[in-house]
Amino acid sequence: MRTALKIIAAVILLAIVGIQFVRPERTNPPVNGEATLQARASVPGEVNSILERSCNDCHSNATTWPWYSNVAPMSWSVIEHVNHGREELNFSEWGTYSEQRRQRKLEEICEEVTERHMPHPQYLWIHWDAELSDSDVKAICDWTKAASGADLPETASAIE
Ligand code: HEC
Repeated sequence: MRTALKIIAAVILLAIVGIQFVRPERTNPPVNGEATLQARASVPGEVNSILERSCNDCHSNATTWPWYSNVAPMSWSVIEHVNHGREELNFSEWGTYSEQRRQRKLEEICEEVTERHMPHPQYLWIHWDAELSDSDVKAICDWTKAASGADLPETASAIE
């Protein structure tokens, strides 16, 4: 019986060690200063710090990778979230979006935070300070509503 337990423990240990070799790439692509949201739209300081605190890890190229992103299997899920998040919305590449896409994203930002879908619930398990207060949500939505009208001329041309 004890031998069986030892074998099971050894197999589990080997599996934990073994999966560490499956390492999807963690990237922080270079940031073109002219293409960022901050360069292309006027973002009030308050909103900027909310985005930095609660969104940038998954929606910019300037991700601060947490320690557990080194440890499989957590790393797989974290890297998947960041890659997927960047694909949907990347504040570092805002300037490359068409005007239509920007308008849509601004609307979705307000929607996602109002419905409390963002920041991702799993992210909040660890990043408690990323949770949005009601006034954070209001500041974001006031900004997206103003930006979708007011920033039109300034952000009209997409850069490559
Ligand atoms: C832990 C990673 C993570 C964090 C933090 C995060 N997001 Fe996301 N976000 C994602 C992922 C992944 C998706 C894509 C699919 C989904 O909805 O889960 C997404 C999708 C979105 C979308 C939808 C885009 C579209 O076109 O449908 C918006 C808008 C968005 N996030 C805004 C935000 C905002 C605003 C914050 C900060 C308040 C934030 N997110 C924080 C990971 C994250």
